Formats: sequence, structure tokens, C-alpha cells
Amino acid sequence: MKKEICLVTGGAGFIGSKLSQSLVDVFDEVIVIDSLHPQIHKNSERPVELDSKVNLMVADICDGDMWDAILEKAKPTVIIHLAAETGTGQSLTEATRHANVNVVGTTQMLDALVRNRAIPRKIILSSSRAVYGEGRWKPLSGQEFYPGQRTQEQLENQEWDFIDSKYLPMNSKINVPMPTSIYGSTKLAQENIISSWCKSFSVDFTVLRFQNVYGPGQSLINSYTGIVSLFVRMAKENKSIPLYEDGNMLRDFIYITDVSNSIMAVLPSEKAINGAVFDIGSGYAATIKEVAYIIAHRYGAPEPHVCGKYRNGDVRHASCDISDTRDFINWTPQISLNEGLGLLCDWIDQKLQ
Ligand SMILES: NC(=O)c1ccc[n+]([C@@H]2O[C@H](COP(=O)([O-])OP(=O)(O)OC[C@H]3O[C@@H](n4cnc5c(N)ncnc54)[C@H](O)[C@@H]3O)[C@@H](O)[C@H]2O)c1
Repeated sequence: MKKEICLVTGGAGFIGSKLSQSLVDVFDEVIVIDSLHPQIHKNSERPVELDSKVNLMVADICDGDMWDAILEKAKPTVIIHLAAETGTGQSLTEATRHANVNVVGTTQMLDALVRNRAIPRKIILSSSRAVYGEGRWKPLSGQEFYPGQRTQEQLENQEWDFIDSKYLPMNSKINVPMPTSIYGSTKLAQENIISSWCKSFSVDFTVLRFQNVYGPGQSLINSYTGIVSLFVRMAKENKSIPLYEDGNMLRDFIYITDVSNSIMAVLPSEKAINGAVFDIGSGYAATIKEVAYIIAHRYGAPEPHVCGKYRNGDVRHASCDISDTRDFINWTPQISLNEGLGLLCDWIDQKLQ
């Protein structure tokens, strides 16, 4: 029987490491290509969360020769493409770096698959809610609309919401993607590239648009991502957590195991999920203020305070409707926000003892 090989790019990161623990039970071999980016990996060491059976190759996905060397020896049946530069705010001033890894890294991989006659059965892409930008809003009366990016003037005047309108949760079946960050644009480019390539080579593919992923294993040294771990560290230091804008921004926080389970759920090559784009969130929209209060309360830290600052490229609200996802794939998020935050805090407490 043909050996089933799963190749995971960026598989030593937060999501990939957790995922590896399930993948090794399903595949004959799991290969991870990861550069162990210093912004995420302290001392560029193999993460303890990465399953010991994983064959880790420390390499850059933008390196075509590296791809040739790997694909000459191993022909993956499934590719899970997670490698990415993920700093939303950072992407505004380091656009080339983000575009290079996220866009050119993806095309380098695809070209190498063709060169080495290593066309897989399936590709799964980890995309992001960032592709939606500000998403759809509904005025008090009238048609839904896409407000687009908030202007500098709006932000300076602290007009956080779009006046007299209500935000509508993101839904891949309805929303037209309209990213407001460079990061979001590169994730949308990844989606489009994977889609056209896979359709041309008759490769199954599924795109998963993750909301805010959190949980044990997330990087504690990357200051550009992971707002929850940042809040935990502040509260542990008995500091009042500063809330950007007015603290009422909505986010959908999805626990890490729910995310890795969603990837496992789309592994089969089924007609219903081939070429589909799914929203992966908890389905619960929390305000940032709510999250800050839960964390501050746990550590007995002073109450969070509104600092009025804002960040270019941040969207006002981001949450999603997961009813379609649940209809199509055998997956349901299991961990509530309170439970998940407790588990993350327990893990951070242990790590930072
Ligand atoms: N964590 C989230 O909240 C979230 C939300 C939406 C989408 N996503 C997407 O999920 C994927 C995984 O995210 P994560 O949270 O695990 O991020 P992460 O930063 O923990 O993991 C990404 C991994 O990619 C590696 N990497 C970066 N550049 C590379 C390169 N040039 N070559 C090889 N490896 C490289 C890093 O070393 C890291 O291990 C990304 O594609 C991201 O866009 C994540």
C-alpha cells in the first residue's frame, strides 16, 4: 500500500505543534518544514509541543532548492500549509517580508511540487478572518453595506463604529473579502493562488479561515500576535490592562484544540468540502473588555482601563457565523471562552513560574 505522508509547512508553530499530536496517529509519516522563526521560537529550538514522531526539517519555504531536496525523497499525499508571517500590525511596515513568505513562499512550494512530480491528493490552507477586513454592516434602515477601512480621520476622532450601523458576523458564503491589512491581503492572495492551482491540477483543497486562536502553546515571546497572552502577562504583573479604542471591539476567540480538530475534520477528500472555504471560530463574539476583565479578575489585578489608543489595520469587530461549517464538516467547538482562558492561564502560570 502507498505510504501516506503528510507535509505541514510552519508545523512547528502554535497550531502546527498541537495538530502534530493528532496527525501522527493518522499518517505513516509527518514531515514539518519550519524555519523556527526567532520572533516565535526562543533560541530557535524544537518546541516541546511538537510530537516526537514528527520529522522536522528546519528550512525556509521561500527556498526552492530546499523544496527540491525534500520532494525528491518524499512525495506528500496531503499538505497542510500553515507557514506564514502573521503580524497584522507589523505587516503595514514590513510588507515585503509578509508578502515574500505568505505569497512567494506559497508559489515556491507549488512550483516545486510540479517540478518534482509530487502532486498531492489534498491541500489544506490556514487562512484568516483578516481577509474580511471590516466586513458587512447593516444600517438602522436600508441595505447591508461594506464600509471598508476606517479612515485616519475617523480613528483620530474616536469614531470607532460606523455611525448608526450594526456589525454582521462574517460568513464565507455571504461576505465578499475586503482586507484592510497587508497581512489580510497576503492571506487572500494565498487563498486565490491555492484555489487556481488546485483546480488546474485536480487537487482537492479546503480553506479554513481562523478567527483568533488562543490556548496553551501559543508564543509568549511574540509581541506582535496573541493579545490574550499579553493580557495575562500584564495581569500577572499586577498591571491594569490597557484597552484600545473603547474596549468594545468584538472578537471570536477559538481554543487551540478546536482549531486543530477542524483541520483533522477536513482531511478526507470529500466532494462536499472540496474547494470549500469554512469559518472556524467558537461562534461566540466577546468584547476585548470582557476578556480583559476575566483575566484581571483571575489574578486580582487592577481593573482594565480604556487608553483610547488604536492600531492601524485593526478592524472594529471580527466574529463569525459557524452554522455552515457545522453543517458541512464533522466538527463543533467544545471549549467555552471561560474554560479556555482558565486553561491558558494555568499553562502560562506553569511556564512563567
Ligand atoms: N493563531 C491565530 O490566531 C491565527 C488566526 C488566523 C489565521 N492563522 C493562520 O494559521 C497559520 C498558523 O498560525 P500559528 O498561530 O500557528 O502561527 P505561528 O507563528 O505560531 O506558526 C507559524 C510557523 O511558521 C513558521 N514560519 C514562518 N515563516 C516561515 C518560513 N519562511 N519558512 C518556514 N516556516 C516559517 C514559524 O517558524 C512558525 O513556527 C498561519 O498561516 C496563520 O496565518 C492563525
